[in-house]
Amino acid sequence: MRVVITDKSVGDWAAVYVAKKINEFKPTADRPFVLGLPTGGTPLAMYKRLIQMNKDGIVSFENVVTFNMDEYVGLTPDNDQSYHYYMHTNFFDHIDIKKENINILDGTAKDYKAECERYEEKIKSYGGIHLFLGGIGPDGHIAFNEPGSSLSSRTRDKDLTMDTIIANSRFFGGDINKVPKLALTVGVGTILDAKEVLIMVTGANKARALHHGIEEGVNHMWTISALQLHRHGIIVSDEAACAELK
Ligand code: F6R
Repeated sequence: MRVVITDKSVGDWAAVYVAKKINEFKPTADRPFVLGLPTGGTPLAMYKRLIQMNKDGIVSFENVVTFNMDEYVGLTPDNDQSYHYYMHTNFFDHIDIKKENINILDGTAKDYKAECERYEEKIKSYGGIHLFLGGIGPDGHIAFNEPGSSLSSRTRDKDLTMDTIIANSRFFGGDINKVPKLALTVGVGTILDAKEVLIMVTGANKARALHHGIEEGVNHMWTISALQLHRHGIIVSDEAACAELK
């Protein structure tokens, strides 16, 4: 695992890295670049920069297939708090990606288990994910793999912890009652299967999680720590998030 601490924008760092990886890849008709994507506050700067790079002709998403990490259960794609809505408004609507290449878990699926299995199979059908991007929660979760998640977990439904519900209530007008209590999420194992994983960490409220993630042992109570097991894992962090590193 590589840790990069930057005094510049974590989002810019990540955007430049993503563009480089896409540009280095030689796609064929049946072998596109496969990118795993997060939502949340942290990746917004990266999406903004990638949109600009796409407009400037520096990177194209024509041969890119995406898989999002997670989606709330019960929110329809047109709900402005769904991750479908977030991804379209903050990224997909502004780049040259083909709509059929976008994959996001269906939080309205009647049969969660079947939906999660379908998602895993679809990732497999592309030969896996080349680069999985992510953020972390203040409790160290990656995707919605809350403390206590198995480090070999696959895509499944997951109850959100009160910590996550409180952290995400800022997107729901501060009302914890409006935050869905259940989500569909890729597993820690699904993320670790990617050829490369890049996790962005910003802000002092992530400092404790970063300390547990990289300075303590691998532990299912801080699922970010599983990245220590990945040969091509990168954490890119700002200085504020490093406040609790030894
Ligand atoms: C988002 C996701 C979450 C977030 C994490 C950090 O798809 O799966 O793990 O990356 O909760 O969220 P922010 O960036 O809002 O602090």
